[in-house]
Amino acid sequence: MKKQTLHSIQKLKECGEPIAALTAYDSSFAKLISERGVEIILIGDSLGMVMQGHQSTIPVSMDNMVYHTQCVSNTNQGSWLIADMPYMSYATESQTLQNAAKLMQAGANMVKVEGGQWLCSSIKKLFERGVPVCAHLGLTPQSVDALGGFKVQGRDESNAKQIIRDALAIEKAGASLLVLECVPKDLATNITQQLNIPTIGIGAGNQTDGQVLVMQDMLGINNDFRPKFVKNFFKYEYVSSIDDAITAYISAVKDRSFPDDEHSFV
Ligand code: KIV
Repeated sequence: MKKQTLHSIQKLKECGEPIAALTAYDSSFAKLISERGVEIILIGDSLGMVMQGHQSTIPVSMDNMVYHTQCVSNTNQGSWLIADMPYMSYATESQTLQNAAKLMQAGANMVKVEGGQWLCSSIKKLFERGVPVCAHLGLTPQSVDALGGFKVQGRDESNAKQIIRDALAIEKAGASLLVLECVPKDLATNITQQLNIPTIGIGAGNQTDGQVLVMQDMLGINNDFRPKFVKNFFKYEYVSSIDDAITAYISAVKDRSFPDDEHSFV
């Protein structure tokens, strides 16, 4: 696969080709999924739940994120690497700059932060220093306790308007990508149309500029709790290997057959 850049990912939005993204936390899966051609690998702090067995992403440390970013970066074959800034690692501007530097030095191409307008000055500072930023709105898992659980966001009008205001503000501040998690399809479509930067959805319908899933969810490995937006790509007769499942996921993202209404929120 050709090496992905911010420019090549932006171009996909401009020409209407959906962007395929998956999480990875280790070098063997990073090699496999980048060879299959996912444009973006997210080293998500979901590793706290998937790799470490926690109930949320809150226990994940900066050292954990640096370690897993290095593991993924070592074997990545050209995907764009986004690393999550973990809980409380971007609470102040100086913390944000120092911790973002650690992730970039570990091999990330971009850092991801959860939140809207309150983050604008930090996003601006990162942008000015040449650190690409992905923002994350909707269900922001690091705020799970404040949100009252892993719930769909933006269903009522005032919350939807707030998410739209946040999306416009983070783009203005210099974010280059936006993850929208667990929001109604129409809201995600509206935001995607208003923004110049690409949106990557998870539980946000099929009209965002791209899709991301936790890879283990997509392979049907974590079955204890399966959110509505998760589809197991390993359960089809024609899928007999992890390679096949990843290829099936990428083609379903590219032709927008995933997520269908069964895997989206209204
Ligand atoms: O941590 C993660 O894997 C994420 C995705 C769910 C978007 O933030």
